[in-house]
Amino acid sequence: MVDKNAQDWSNYWQGRAGESAGEALVGVGIEHNEKLAKFWAECFAGLDKSSNILDMACGAGSVLRHANANGFTHLSGVDISADAVAAMQRQFPNAKGIVAPVDATGLADGTYDLLVSQYGFEYAGSNRQVLAAAREMARLVADNGQFIALCHIKGGGIEQEVSGHLRDIKDMTKLGFISAAKAVFIALDAAEKSPTLVTKTAYEKATHLLTVPRNKLIAWLEAGQTSGSEIHKLGQHLYSGTIDLFSRRKAYSLADITGWLDGMQAEIDAYRGRMQSMRQSALSEKDARNILAVFADAQFNIDHPAPFYLAGDNKPAAWVLQARR
Ligand SMILES: C[S@@+](CC[C@H](N)C(=O)[O-])C[C@H]1O[C@@H](n2cnc3c(N)ncnc32)[C@H](O)[C@@H]1O
Repeated sequence: MVDKNAQDWSNYWQGRAGESAGEALVGVGIEHNEKLAKFWAECFAGLDKSSNILDMACGAGSVLRHANANGFTHLSGVDISADAVAAMQRQFPNAKGIVAPVDATGLADGTYDLLVSQYGFEYAGSNRQVLAAAREMARLVADNGQFIALCHIKGGGIEQEVSGHLRDIKDMTKLGFISAAKAVFIALDAAEKSPTLVTKTAYEKATHLLTVPRNKLIAWLEAGQTSGSEIHKLGQHLYSGTIDLFSRRKAYSLADITGWLDGMQAEIDAYRGRMQSMRQSALSEKDARNILAVFADAQFNIDHPAPFYLAGDNKPAAWVLQARR
């Protein structure tokens, strides 16, 4: 059974954002970040270029991109979303892609010299599943190998941004534009097919009911507070697409039009789901220690979890988790 989290991520990687981004955390300040590139370059320093590197919950391969840029060629990535793995392999055709959950990869014991994860394995789900993922990762690391992860941190900068995005999604969806627009198209279709006083009055009423959500959506888009964000782009696409459908409605069936509006709703829902899963996957210090304790139990040397800061941030962006076998 595909769980909701996995489904939301697959929708993301299939959708417009996934196609163009090649990054999973777009809009929260980590894409093409030099501090991150430096962090990973330091992790790779001193490793033989033929080392086997596995990226857990690789998405489109952000960490593998750093490995590739540093001359490593034996690259593999695990992700629950086949679309993420395909996006990763479009960038790195020679990398091995494994579509699997991080807590049950089916890969052989002790295969990887370096196992990495960036905002990845902590998406496994419940605490129990995240600890199962930790056991799985410990199992996959070769003798003398290492595990290094950057994980979402509770109370950190990304969690704060994500909470802001969730508020923006709430603000936009509470305007009720999609349902009001749908009602207009349905009433218009009925009035055109059977132009009676009743259907015409129903259409006028639906149009009237759309006025407030439409004006509020325009005001929300123009207010500029959310400019550049994913939800702002979705709002713009929703508004301009609806206007376009209305002006060219004769070219479409009612089912096409309502299907498009339902599709927009699904994109917004998936975005909300993805933001919620980001927030839920944030680890407290205790969670981070519990994960490292799994590696200690598997005879690894562990470091204390350390906060990681992106340049200019006063709140940490991640936990650094490290263990050596
Ligand atoms: C925030 S993204 C990070 C992707 C990539 N590491 C990066 O830094 O761009 C989280 C990734 O975890 C994947 N994912 C979510 N739940 C998973 C699970 N249970 N097992 C494997 N991958 C999972 C998603 O498909 C998504 O690609």
